[in-house]
Amino acid sequence: MLIMSKHLRTDEVYVLKIGGSVLTEKGKERKARKSAIKRISEAIALALAHSSRKNLILVHGAGSYGHPQAKVYLESGEVKDALITHESAKELNRMVISSLMEFGPRAMPIHPLSGVVSKGPEIKYKIKEQIELALKAGIIPVLHGDVILDEKEGFRILSGDQLVVYAAKELKASKVGVGTDVDGVLNDNGAVIRRITPPEADKMSIKGSEHVDVTGGMKEKVYLLARLASQHNIPSILFNASKESNVYKFLTDDENLFGTVISV
Ligand code: IPE
Repeated sequence: MLIMSKHLRTDEVYVLKIGGSVLTEKGKERKARKSAIKRISEAIALALAHSSRKNLILVHGAGSYGHPQAKVYLESGEVKDALITHESAKELNRMVISSLMEFGPRAMPIHPLSGVVSKGPEIKYKIKEQIELALKAGIIPVLHGDVILDEKEGFRILSGDQLVVYAAKELKASKVGVGTDVDGVLNDNGAVIRRITPPEADKMSIKGSEHVDVTGGMKEKVYLLARLASQHNIPSILFNASKESNVYKFLTDDENLFGTVISV
């Protein structure tokens, strides 16, 4: 394990997203997978301790703490339902942060509702300095899928994947990892596609999620990550974060990490 830390540079920024399907039971409502939260926090703590990596931005999805609630909001348009979505996403965020802190790393929340707005087709992020200062202070900023204010609609949903792309771009990440509960992007025969280039991503047809998913599932992920690769030359890997040691492998640059690489 320690042998790999030789290759690591300390100033690089890594962005890691853990999907709501890993941290929660997505078919239910407000049901966390406590053991997964614990296992992933421990893997992050170990990877940071075993390497000299300092700059990690963590993003998590909302899973059953966001999708069912957001669906209610999208149907009702009521402010109270938007706030229920926000509060429950925050609840999951608190669990993730407490768990990380229990294993050692210092972490803090950055809630998109308080720092991101949507104006017309544009999303305006006002959280760059917070992320930067947190990293400088040796704290892991932990962002999450959330509701944000929208100029016309009242609120709209901002996915963890959109935050990943934003953070990677703004903080000039060298690597992005997106952990879900599947091994990567699957082809029609159910086999993992090991690499996707942006032109290939444009031509692909990808199946949607079987659960309530208000943010587009795997298809949207591939689209967003392909643009991150083509426009900013930042590679990403989609891997299974429900599998033991994959998060550790991602953070320590283990070449055996199995998944789908999206790169130019
Ligand atoms: C969803 O964020 C945000 C809300 C529904 C409020 P994500 O789209 O990143 O969540 P997961 O990873 O699919 O659960």
